[in-house]
Amino acid sequence: MSSNRSSFTGKIGFVLAAAGSAVGLGNIWRFPYLAAKYGGGIFLLVYIILSLTFGFSLMVAEIAIGRKTQQSPITAFRSLDRRFSFIGILASLVPIIIMPYYSVIGGWVLKYFVGFLTGEAGSMAGKDYFNYYIATPGEPILWFAVFMAVTALIVLFGVQKGIEKVSKVMMPMLVVLMLFIVIYTIATMDGAWQGVLYYITPDFSKFSIMTVVAAMGQLFYSMSLAMGIMVTFGSYMKKDISIEKSTHQIELFDTGIAFLAGLMIVPAVFAFSGGDEGALGQGPGLMFVTLPKIFETIPGGAVLGAVFFLMVLLAALTSAISLMETIVAVIIDKLKISRKACCMLVLGGAFLLGLPSSLGYSVWKDVRLLGMQLLDFFDFISNSVMMPIVALATCILIGFFLTPKPLIEEVEESGLFRTKRLFSVMIRYVAPVCILLILISSVLNAFGVVKI
Ligand code: PHE
Repeated sequence: MSSNRSSFTGKIGFVLAAAGSAVGLGNIWRFPYLAAKYGGGIFLLVYIILSLTFGFSLMVAEIAIGRKTQQSPITAFRSLDRRFSFIGILASLVPIIIMPYYSVIGGWVLKYFVGFLTGEAGSMAGKDYFNYYIATPGEPILWFAVFMAVTALIVLFGVQKGIEKVSKVMMPMLVVLMLFIVIYTIATMDGAWQGVLYYITPDFSKFSIMTVVAAMGQLFYSMSLAMGIMVTFGSYMKKDISIEKSTHQIELFDTGIAFLAGLMIVPAVFAFSGGDEGALGQGPGLMFVTLPKIFETIPGGAVLGAVFFLMVLLAALTSAISLMETIVAVIIDKLKISRKACCMLVLGGAFLLGLPSSLGYSVWKDVRLLGMQLLDFFDFISNSVMMPIVALATCILIGFFLTPKPLIEEVEESGLFRTKRLFSVMIRYVAPVCILLILISSVLNAFGVVKI
């Protein structure tokens, strides 16, 4: 089995492929609205601390498991310890839940890209445009279906490499464009500076356990952790490439882009709302409401907007591809069907599963599950329940059954593991305790037992 596993070529190949999966809507769409909602600076601080300690350790662990076992998640965990084979199964279910609603948001991005291309930039900046748009049932479903069909075609024809090449060029452009928007907003809009301060200064009075719950869910999501993806990537990684360094690079990339996206959106929200904090709690629509307004104020903003949404679209596509790849690989493995049949099956299934998320803003807007809108519900179940369970079980498996030693040895195959003590302590003690607390609080919160 291991002999015919293809592997990434070159040092940077692995990092780029993993970063392509990690950088996506999570960074550009999800991070800013969470940061805005959960108190700005304090959220950012908690996120960065978690990312450097916990996110780092978990990512190293997953990559090392993949490289050590040379297997896909389903069998990798089983081969380490039969009693933990459920981790592989649970981890494989996560992308099945994420992919449909991820594509719904991907569809929103596609709509905005096409809108900016076809001269609708002005009306998209209008008050309530976004809310009216998602409240219509038909069109969002159409774009959602197109986004998913494109993803499926790429996976079916195996042209991921081509897309990755394009996105390699586009990512630096995205960063430059974001930097430009940040500088432009701060320099020209009244009130934006106040937003910058809100975003970077931690206000400890805004801290609650929900800040940590949200930050941790975001960490899993953004770094594509706790769903087997990094295990799969690890299984393709060559032995002479440093897991530790690669993880640092992916992390820096991922967190850097999320930070910039927040810096681009939060100050603008402040400027447009005149510092009204109510505007910060808008949730999933925040980016779609704010960006067109920014582009409206920039000369030539319509063109810039089209380019920007195209790049976000590409980032979203590379992530969606990795989600779909994982699902397809698992299903082919289990059902032994052809790749084509499998892609069709996943496409159809994901479409059906995504419908409620899309319709949750229109005809089903009054439906609530655990008090949440449907898209929020799926987001919650995957990020705040399933992923923490996978992460907790992984930590227990590595910390106490396998012990961190074999994984540390795996990391050391490609050189010194500088932070191995941090790694052991995180995986054994800090992470499991934190995850458990977080899991309990998010579930209690969702069931309304306590309001945190
Ligand atoms: N990490 C991706 C993002 O930030 C989302 C994603 C999650 C991709 C899970 C693959 C798997 O957008």
